[in-house]
Amino acid sequence: MAVTIKSEREIALMREAGRILSITHAEMKKALKPGMSTKDIDRLAEEIIRSYGCIPNFKNYHGYPASVCISINDEVVHGIPSDKRIIQEGDIVSLDCGCIYKGYHSDAARTHAVGEVSKEAKQLIEVTRQSFFEGMKYAKEGYHLVDIARGIQEYVENLGYSVVRDLVGHGIGRSLHEDPQIPNFVSRRRGIRLQAGMTLAVEPMINQGAYPVCWLDDDWTVVTEDGSLSAHYENTVLITKGEPEFLTIGDEIEQN
Ligand code: MF3
Ligand code: CO
Repeated sequence: MAVTIKSEREIALMREAGRILSITHAEMKKALKPGMSTKDIDRLAEEIIRSYGCIPNFKNYHGYPASVCISINDEVVHGIPSDKRIIQEGDIVSLDCGCIYKGYHSDAARTHAVGEVSKEAKQLIEVTRQSFFEGMKYAKEGYHLVDIARGIQEYVENLGYSVVRDLVGHGIGRSLHEDPQIPNFVSRRRGIRLQAGMTLAVEPMINQGAYPVCWLDDDWTVVTEDGSLSAHYENTVLITKGEPEFLTIGDEIEQN
């Protein structure tokens, strides 16, 4: 499938999908407390998304059973919410969520510290968030995908962290996953040339230790092979001729 360029009408719908998702993320962040189950967070997100007349796009995606992926500590992505999984003080919790507004998708992830976490954990969360913005210095018409990847990877590796290789970002629009794939690491391909009107979900997944990951027996949850902590940060981004527009960052200045 070719990479799509969105019209002004489509961009307006994606802005609204992004705005509603940023509200959902802000509410999940407020609610996140020790003693809650991951299913509690999932229920809250689904309720908010539906209250805006939107549809949670992860639910039933290739059989995925929930509206949010909730991945704790050494879990990288795609953790499945459960009534039995209780959030603890000291955990780092990645919340990955998306919604559909009038046929258009949004997708964003945040990693939060629950109560007091170690200095190392805090640093990992901040480096992961900042790596996204390092990549965004090259998210502009005329650069290539590899420029974004290089921005992310050099920043992360200079600080001694590693970039997950087995999972990548993606184009987004009428489908959750469109072309192109968007790696967060440099490969021999420079990738497509960016053009105004492309909408991309850029999502660095960063490990405290080594980059290899493996899958649990639930066939969804991805964990670090070495058991080290992992964090995730993602936004749906509109490419323009100038600065990128972050469709899933709300008006309020977000800490993470
Ligand atoms: N945000 C994830 C991504 O970008 C989607 C999760 S997969 C799902 O690929 F099955 F949970 F939807
Ligand atoms: Co995504």
